[in-house]
Amino acid sequence: MKRIKSLLVVVAGLVMGLAATAVQARTLDEIKADGKIIIATEGAYPPFNYFQGSKLTGFEVELAEAMAKKMGLAVEWKALSFDALLAGLRQDRWDMVIASFGITADRSKAVTFTSPDYCSGGVIVSKDPNIRTADSLVGKTVAVQTGSTYMENVKKIPGVKDVKNFPQDTDARSALINGRVDAWVSDRFVVKNVMATSPNSGLKTGGYLFVERIASAVKKGNMPLAAAIDKALADVMADGTYKAISEKYMKEDIRCK
Ligand code: ARG
Repeated sequence: MKRIKSLLVVVAGLVMGLAATAVQARTLDEIKADGKIIIATEGAYPPFNYFQGSKLTGFEVELAEAMAKKMGLAVEWKALSFDALLAGLRQDRWDMVIASFGITADRSKAVTFTSPDYCSGGVIVSKDPNIRTADSLVGKTVAVQTGSTYMENVKKIPGVKDVKNFPQDTDARSALINGRVDAWVSDRFVVKNVMATSPNSGLKTGGYLFVERIASAVKKGNMPLAAAIDKALADVMADGTYKAISEKYMKEDIRCK
């Protein structure tokens, strides 16, 4: 009996200790009371999230601001490296992440995704017009952003000579432009933007290597916040705001059809 009692004391102590260390994600009510939502992004992924001088801008930045407005909230932005973003949700360092994350089964184990902001996919980009499909990557060196779905999907292609990782997607692009790799795999609209802004780059692109749905994320299980974000997204999609922002950056409406 005594032993059971002391065991119970130990268990109770452990539970209390855990409760004290597990910081709680801010609830929707707490965020509303504060008046501002803390959103993290990368800031190095044009035209979705990037810096124009010292100003954070892009499709996702404007979209998130429009959504926050619908929720009656101001935004406090944090810009961090891509690989730090989802981990920071777990540690309650911010309320939401918007950085073109594709919804994957693995990521869904760690965070809660909202409804998709847009639908896109990875495309192969090269200076060599013969490099357009997965098969044509056999024996080639491919640049991708570290931790991206491009990295994951290129690694699955048998026969690729080398997958070179770069912390930023723009560095993977530079590696291709400078001739250090044979191909770069990135988002279709990122590539469309590069083609439009540097028409003389000599880059060619094929069709989709894979498609994905891109969404914002909140801390795993923070359902009231996810629902409020979904509602705000539906609102901006319904009132023309989404379309205007999408056409400004992408020259087309990129919502999932
Ligand atoms: N869509 C890709 C993924 O889900 C790339 C996202 C890159 N985002 C960024 N902010 N660099 O992994």
